[in-house]
Amino acid sequence: MRINKYIASAGIASRRKADEMIASGQVKVNGAVLTKPGYDVLPGDIVEVRGQEIRPSGEKLYYAMNKPMGCVTTVKDDKGRATVMDYIREVDARLFPVGRLDFNTSGLLFLTNDGDFAYKLTHPKHKVDKKYLVRIAGNINKADLSRLRRGVVLDTGFRTSPAQVNIITWNRHSTILDVTIHEGKKRQVRKMFEAVGYHVVQLERVSIGNIQLGHLKPGRCRKLNPSEVKYLMNL
Ligand code: URA
Repeated sequence: MRINKYIASAGIASRRKADEMIASGQVKVNGAVLTKPGYDVLPGDIVEVRGQEIRPSGEKLYYAMNKPMGCVTTVKDDKGRATVMDYIREVDARLFPVGRLDFNTSGLLFLTNDGDFAYKLTHPKHKVDKKYLVRIAGNINKADLSRLRRGVVLDTGFRTSPAQVNIITWNRHSTILDVTIHEGKKRQVRKMFEAVGYHVVQLERVSIGNIQLGHLKPGRCRKLNPSEVKYLMNL
């Protein structure tokens, strides 16, 4: 089995993250730092990640969480901030979050120990729809709505694909919209609105594909059922 897949199936990280760990010298095979990213693990090989021996685990676990605001979507944080893992302590497995939500974004987030599942849902080529509820300061005009729908150029120079954008409600101070995108650039929704001159004051992810956040309370998790996992794997 290829080394990045081996690390992923041990529940350490997604395959892409595993590649980064290999590149930064955190992976050893039989006591030597691995330099070949395409290495095929052989029976009897001892693989260590950050000094700890790892083995692929059998049971795959899949959870949906309502990520609360005020925590990061990493397993550890070197600045000591709360992480999503603080909310899933009761689950005895080395889970990791699938993709990311900003510190101040809430909503649907998957956690798993299955690197292939994470890869499938986060790789841009798979184009999985993610829907967000967005509150912006002020009111948006039709021309700016059209620009968002057609795609805008972010501060990074990235041009976003066409998006579904609908106004749900508004008052004098703010507007609530839903936005569906399949890309996952860092702070993409916030930056899309910035690109057309609006400030996002609240952001919540409400669905991924057809899996809904539903009534899951902030900070709570539920196991995805087998048909949901199958559906997500086949997207
Ligand atoms: N877009 C953002 O701006 N932030 C998120 O957390 C997710 C999507």
